Amino acid sequence: MAQDDRPLLARADSQDSYREANEEDALLTGQATDKPEPSQWKKYRETVLSLYSILATIAIVALAIVVNHESKRAHAKGPGKGWGQDGKPTGKRNLIFMVSDGMGPASLSMTRSFRQFTELLPIDDVLVLDEHLIGSSRTRSSNSLITDSAAGATAFSCGMKSYNGAISVLPDHTPCGTVLEAAKKAGYMTGLVVTTRLTDATPACFAAHVNSRAYEDIIAEQMIGNYPLGQVVDVLIGGGRCHFLPNTTEGSCRSDDTDVVKMAKDKFGYNYIDNRQDFDNLQARGGVKLPLLALMADGDVPYEIDRVHVNDVYPSEAEMAQLALSALEAATKDSDSKGFFLMIEGSRIDHAGHGNDPAAQVHEVLAHGKTFATVLDFIENTDIPTVLVGTSDHETGGLALGRQLGVAYPIYAWYPEILANASHSASYLSHKYADYLGSDAGQKASRKQKAKYIRHELLEHDFGVYDVLDEEIDSIIDATIFWPPSYIFAEMISQRAQIGWSTHGHTAVDVNIYASDPHHARPLIGNHENIEVGKFLADFLDVDVSEVTKELVEKGTKTHDVASESMNFAWMGPVQPLNSHQVAVEETLWAEALREGHALEVDVHARL
Ligand SMILES: *[C@@H]1O[C@H](CO)[C@@H](O)[C@H](O)[C@H]1NC(C)=O
Ligand SMILES: *[C@@H]1O[C@H](CO)[C@@H](O)[C@H](O)[C@H]1NC(C)=O
Ligand SMILES: [Zn+2]
Repeated sequence: MAQDDRPLLARADSQDSYREANEEDALLTGQATDKPEPSQWKKYRETVLSLYSILATIAIVALAIVVNHESKRAHAKGPGKGWGQDGKPTGKRNLIFMVSDGMGPASLSMTRSFRQFTELLPIDDVLVLDEHLIGSSRTRSSNSLITDSAAGATAFSCGMKSYNGAISVLPDHTPCGTVLEAAKKAGYMTGLVVTTRLTDATPACFAAHVNSRAYEDIIAEQMIGNYPLGQVVDVLIGGGRCHFLPNTTEGSCRSDDTDVVKMAKDKFGYNYIDNRQDFDNLQARGGVKLPLLALMADGDVPYEIDRVHVNDVYPSEAEMAQLALSALEAATKDSDSKGFFLMIEGSRIDHAGHGNDPAAQVHEVLAHGKTFATVLDFIENTDIPTVLVGTSDHETGGLALGRQLGVAYPIYAWYPEILANASHSASYLSHKYADYLGSDAGQKASRKQKAKYIRHELLEHDFGVYDVLDEEIDSIIDATIFWPPSYIFAEMISQRAQIGWSTHGHTAVDVNIYASDPHHARPLIGNHENIEVGKFLADFLDVDVSEVTKELVEKGTKTHDVASESMNFAWMGPVQPLNSHQVAVEETLWAEALREGHALEVDVHARL
């Protein structure tokens, strides 16, 4: 604390001297007796003011010279070996790109205040991410002012705008080469680490090309190499196992009987793991055999707020990132010229936004910050010029830190203690509730018994909410699949914390850009289009995505097997009408809601 006091005192000093001058001024003008004559006074004032401005100018110029000199000095000695004049490495290099899916500026303010509250930190304590903010990104897609994650990630991977739902295909439905594919072609090692399904839009955009993000079965096959370019990803760690297993096995969500895990192992030489124990063994042993396919969850890795209770089953984002970093570092250590490209996504910040669940979101942002710190540590300890750049594809939820709850003018406050009291996500409560309703006890339960369960076992036990209203319990019992219990749970926390949300979807607000060191990401300082982030990635690695595009078009056209002449890229799945992707996403969301309320569905239908 003492250290933190110093800068505050320093600021107070300068404010004091400013105030003193003003007060003196006021004092002088207020004194009638020995006050100089008005005209004389005016002249005196003008002289003093111009003297002040001259002195201030001199001071500013002097300061600028010193700062310039300092930064030149820092630059001359700082970057040093391996870095060129243009701020880019001259030889071997690594690039880590971090995507905070759905994280807008308000998520940072919320998480910063939450952390200060829970860890008793001073008001000037900031997040690791705050310390590395260098700019902001404008996120619109080719067909909407509000992007989805597919168009958002295509902007990063190809450096080009496309339509919502596009997985590295352009508006004319031709494939565009990605930075990861180009990096692999150039001799880099590559990796993707996510906390959602590996077949979800963001990771898919780096190593797959399909006309709609809904084609996750095709994406799974392409990502392991079953597409025109062959195997391009050396490290794949995340969830989404169900899309890799044939529909004949338990835990599959594929619509066909293709065994993508088997294909990965037999045809493309992947080292496959699917559980925490094997994950830990790999980590302990080091020298991981690549390529690696690590499918750590059926679908999504649980939200961090829930995952910490099942840490023996699922690794954290930071642990997955650490494994990828050490594997890629080891695999490139003997190369004189080529390092690696790794994309790490904090995928579920977005999901917490879709669910309007602020308690789940702060833990997702903290977990992503921890991963960011892990990567910074890696950069600190490597001799290879390495850069970390991070940004979001878009904001989700229209999060607002302040909310009017009734006709009364709102209080200027929001309450992090409400979020701190929750030990699980709204989605977890909803699943637990559905399980209860499906159990023997739940099926036999009277309305009063259900109310008791909701109050004590869910809201008090898992959410730390004790001031529950009867009508809130009623709305949960009477919930329908169109406004599922998870929405109501999340709303209860949001209202009490006085946090607002404008939508369960995405918004168009600009998002932040971060870097390990602004000197190494100079083109991204300030406000940019999202495609400039994509261009930076390719430029930093000195790779050309258009060469890959050519290769995809040449090889891809040969595989066409449809009668229609316009369908030259059948391997990318059928073309869907614009905006249907959005519907597909919404359907996914409702399907999720349905699953969450599967027992409720029966109730609803029974009542109809
Ligand atoms: C599994 O996939 C095969 C095609 O690969 C299909 O014929 C079959 O109907 C599918 N089974 C189920 C239960 O979906
Ligand atoms: C938080 O939980 C505690 C019990 O653990 C409870 O007494 C308290 O009222 C809760 N705080 C809020 C703000 O709901
Ligand atoms: Zn989203």
